Amino acid sequence: MISDLASRLREGTKKSHTVAENTAFMQCFLKGIVEKQSFRALIANLYFIYSALEVELQHHIAHPVVGMIGFPELHRQKNLEKDLVFYYGEDWRQQIVALNSTNTYVARIHEIAKTEPVLLVAHAYVRYMGDLSGGQSLRTMVRSAIQLPVDRGTALYEFDTLTTAEARKACKGKYRHALNSLPLEEDFSQRIIDEANYAFQLNHNILHELEIDLKAAIGEDVFNLIVSQHNINSTNNSNHHASVNLVAAE
Ligand code: HEM
Repeated sequence: MISDLASRLREGTKKSHTVAENTAFMQCFLKGIVEKQSFRALIANLYFIYSALEVELQHHIAHPVVGMIGFPELHRQKNLEKDLVFYYGEDWRQQIVALNSTNTYVARIHEIAKTEPVLLVAHAYVRYMGDLSGGQSLRTMVRSAIQLPVDRGTALYEFDTLTTAEARKACKGKYRHALNSLPLEEDFSQRIIDEANYAFQLNHNILHELEIDLKAAIGEDVFNLIVSQHNINSTNNSNHHASVNLVAAE
């Protein structure tokens, strides 16, 4: 049976997406202000998130619903390890520390994996569809803002088996089809949408916590200037602005 979960998720999280992309952290990114220490801290915190998510997705590989959105080609843990070696050195494991907001996010992933594993769908959707979409323009911004050696420093946004825009687009299509084909019990779609909104909130909290150091690094004046500029909304097709164009160019 085919549902419309993919478009319901997209519509149902539009506001949360706008809030997340309008965090000062992301706005700095989009305006070409990428501060290396803050970026590596983001990578480190995402490492904790993806490690938890991917361990649980793997653990539920035989689950009739969760198994369908496993998509190992999208998994980020190994790529994040490459970035961590690059930014912190071989002893990165001893150096990275999770933020409070990250610990809350990780705990939520493990909690639902135990109590209601179907909700893992929401967390996978928010991260992987994001990496395949806006993540690609963020990659461009990071690479042009900080001088990175070829092939280093942005593995987070790179997919070994999806190297072209067409391949990533096709994968998004496959992902949406998988979402629409999930054998869900009635009414569970709304629970997944609610959890996806919560996942956006958890991501937003991390970005917000990272802003403390970012603000200190770039200076309060620059930071406040960026925050004061008008909001954007990338998932609203009628709105044309720089970040949309960057992704559309994909
Ligand atoms: C500056 C930051 C961001 C930009 C510029 C951005 C941009 C975009 C764009 C252009 C799309 C594609 C919309 C389309 O297909 O028409 C997209 C989709 C998406 N983004 Fe973002 N995004 C950002 C941040 C985030 C964050 C922080 C998250 C969550 C952690 C996220 C999650 C998603 C998801 C789940 C989708 C897929 C929506 C769907 O088609 O179902 N994005 N983003």
